[in-house]
Amino acid sequence: MALAEIRYTQNQIHDRVHDLAAELCTNLEGQRPLLVSVLKGSVIFLADLVRHMGQIGMDVDVDFMSISAYGAESEPSGVVRIVKDLEQPLDGRHVIVVEDIVDTGLSVSYLLRALTARNPRTLRVCALIDKAVRRITDLEVDYAGFICEEFLIGYGLDFQGRYRNLPCLIAVKDVAAVAIEPGALERLFEKGHGCNE
Ligand code: IMP
Ligand code: MG
Repeated sequence: MALAEIRYTQNQIHDRVHDLAAELCTNLEGQRPLLVSVLKGSVIFLADLVRHMGQIGMDVDVDFMSISAYGAESEPSGVVRIVKDLEQPLDGRHVIVVEDIVDTGLSVSYLLRALTARNPRTLRVCALIDKAVRRITDLEVDYAGFICEEFLIGYGLDFQGRYRNLPCLIAVKDVAAVAIEPGALERLFEKGHGCNE
């Protein structure tokens, strides 16, 4: 079994992010939304998303937040700490939380509760990947790039901090093997690994 395989190519990501941007621009026409990027996984997605929105003709603000889960990652508790907070107030703003992946939904649910208390006019979630079947909260993603349940790396998504700068989204088929030998995926960086096929 191959350790990993390309799940979404650069071209597929480009087209899907463009469509998401178009949908956001249609729904927020005449507004200047505030896009809240949750560090670090969503920064590459955010960078492409806002450029597509700019090309379509929408002005946006961006701000950044960083959260970290309490306790072991294998046992999500839903208790999340804000490590870096926003610099802008949310009162009266149309706010879009931009996430890399919504998995159990615990982190974004916590975030939405915290941000709701700041009186935004609207508050929506835009995620590159929606692992809908793994949800243990009633959170719904308003704008989802791809629905997928595999473990993904690349395009901002990491495995133990690595592989964020791969230009496409790669599914790791054997996460346990990669955990034992973290360098096992290094060949993905070899020339012509097919991110654009
Ligand atoms: P949850 O929705 O609270 O369970 O947490 C989602 C977070 O877990 C994401 O923002 C990612 O940081 C991380 N995560 C979940 N699935 C993956 C994956 O397939 N690749 C990389 N990170 C993931
Ligand atoms: Mg994250």
